[in-house]
Amino acid sequence: MKLQGKKALVTGASRGIGRAIALAFAKEGATVVLGSRSLDSLEALAKEIGTAVAVRLDVTDPESIARAREEVGEVQILVNNAGIAGSVKVLAMDDEHWQSHLDVNLTGAFRVTRAFLAPMVAAKWGRVIQIASTAGKIGFAYTAAYCASKHGSSASPARSRSRWRRPASP
Ligand SMILES: NC(=O)c1ccc[n+]([C@@H]2O[C@H](COP(=O)([O-])OP(=O)(O)OC[C@H]3O[C@@H](n4cnc5c(N)ncnc54)[C@H](OP(=O)(O)O)[C@@H]3O)[C@@H](O)[C@H]2O)c1
Repeated sequence: MKLQGKKALVTGASRGIGRAIALAFAKEGATVVLGSRSLDSLEALAKEIGTAVAVRLDVTDPESIARAREEVGEVQILVNNAGIAGSVKVLAMDDEHWQSHLDVNLTGAFRVTRAFLAPMVAAKWGRVIQIASTAGKIGFAYTAAYCASKHGSSASPARSRSRWRRPASP
């Protein structure tokens, strides 16, 4: 039970990889907080796990993030997993497609991290895990918005990681 005593928020836990991470963390003893927009699915998973709790969370909505932070309190582990992955040719891509990928995959992860990070820094222990993608390292056809968002989200936490570990300066 490697995660006994740890509270972990997994964003995008209603299905797919997030759901699998939540189940694996719970098996290792973590108290898992399941976050996404689909409260029914999260509550069903929380019931299956037994010790988990569900929280409605839209990572594109600052008010939703603030409410979730209030409801959940401090966590020791944050998994930024929530993501969308659309596919369209650049010449057919509208602004909404482009912006939605940045909003969820890049800005969403940043905002959730910002909301939950301070207590980890204060406690001198915490883990922020970014669910990346090979699309954050190389480009793929028809997925320019997804690749751009994943390149950004791969870079930003890695760059700031060493800074979090140093004492704060004014
Ligand atoms: N599947 C792959 O092959 C693959 C490969 C590399 C990386 N990844 C990455 O792994 C992560 C999960 O992928 P997946 O395949 O498991 O995706 P998925 O099955 O489509 O699940 C996506 C999850 O993200 C949540 N989500 C989407 N928009 C959200 C929002 N605005 N606020 C909160 N939650 C939101 C969804 O929950 P609700 O709809 O309930 O809000 C859902 O739980 C993503 O970051 C993806 O880029 C996946």
